[in-house]
Amino acid sequence: MFRFAQHDKTRSVEPPRVLNVEDLRRAAKRRLPRVVFDYIDGGAEDERTLRANCHAFEEVTFRPRCAVATPACDLRVSVLGKSLSTPLILAPVGSSRLMYPRGEEAAASAAGAAGIAYALSTLSGCRLEDVADASKGPLWYQLYLVGGRDCALSAIERAKAAGFSALVVTIDTAVAGMRERDLRNGAKELLSGNLGSKLPFVSQLLIKPHWLAAFLADGGLMKFQNVVIPGKGPMLYADVTAALEHAAVTWDDLNWIRQAWSLPIVIKGIHTGDDARRAVDVGASALVVSNHGGRQLDSVAPTLRILPEVVASVGGHIEVLLDGGIRRGSDIVKALCLGARAVMVGRAYAYGLGAAGGPGVARAIEILRTDLVRTLKLLGCASIAELDRSYVDVPADWLGK
Ligand SMILES: Cc1cc2nc3c(=O)[nH]c(=O)nc-3n(C[C@H](O)[C@H](O)[C@H](O)COP(=O)(O)O)c2cc1C
Repeated sequence: MFRFAQHDKTRSVEPPRVLNVEDLRRAAKRRLPRVVFDYIDGGAEDERTLRANCHAFEEVTFRPRCAVATPACDLRVSVLGKSLSTPLILAPVGSSRLMYPRGEEAAASAAGAAGIAYALSTLSGCRLEDVADASKGPLWYQLYLVGGRDCALSAIERAKAAGFSALVVTIDTAVAGMRERDLRNGAKELLSGNLGSKLPFVSQLLIKPHWLAAFLADGGLMKFQNVVIPGKGPMLYADVTAALEHAAVTWDDLNWIRQAWSLPIVIKGIHTGDDARRAVDVGASALVVSNHGGRQLDSVAPTLRILPEVVASVGGHIEVLLDGGIRRGSDIVKALCLGARAVMVGRAYAYGLGAAGGPGVARAIEILRTDLVRTLKLLGCASIAELDRSYVDVPADWLGK
């Protein structure tokens, strides 16, 4: 029975039905209630940065070398000392368990099977130990300080014991961004215990019976299994927005985090060359040029646009990753040409997860990987290690800083 269901899911995301990430997005929209789809798809305020992240890739154009034989393309890269099959990491995506039963385990498993790394959000519905059991690839744990320092320390200990090999500290979430779609869809009311306030928003769940049945079979509204409040247990979903108000990470926090975690630290949420240098100064092994996929401060510059500034300012001292707006393998190539060692993707795989669970995530990875090989061949470049600025044209004002 389970095999049949998996086969069905795999078929639902096969070509020619699903050829690209936008097809996965549409499939997710069909399966998910509006409140869940918009949680993935939406951004902060006017969604300017969300759009700009994608648009920035259109401003960079390729300079191919034609009539060059590239029989096999080498996509392997080493990130934080681990070899990845593709320069791709699945970014932390909170509440993945709302998108699909045991969502974080499904995504980690698909990443491991593809030979890439998976970053688990603090705000996940699956226990980090179960996620570790589900994957044979490198795992990173993303840290928010919701629940306070003791709570974070206990998650750090558990992550270490479970074999997570890097800690991702997200620094762009001083408060939750203003995601207006969530408010309009009644996310707050649906999470509250009050039946009367839920009622106007319940129909969007009822019209998605497949999602609803799977959600209920998976235990209904999850708790945050890795935010265990001393004396209280796992944090309730409804408490998270208030908890984020008191969870800002500061550069000083990096000192005690460094003491508690001796393996590599990745600072996620770098928007400027100045902060990139601070990341080097606090001893990070890598940073992610990221604006949280346009979900936090709206009107910040798209990540691709500031990548050259960040790469120049760290001078090769730490590894530079980028996320935001990646929907095609050619987008990955452009980021690598501008100096990123690898990229993270959030929505590209979350759409796949929402559409079809693990097979949907696997399909997202396959789409990006196949695009990447094709793009390299069309560029006349045999390996990602050879990619550099000479393969792209960049608007002149991007390089001014
Ligand atoms: C639904 C959703 C939930 C997210 N949750 C988290 C999170 O819990 N922690 C975090 O550091 N970033 C989170 N992010 C941001 C991603 O890690 C990543 O920075 C972003 O998705 C990259 O942009 P992209 O979606 O265009 O690829 C989330 C993103 C999405 C779409």
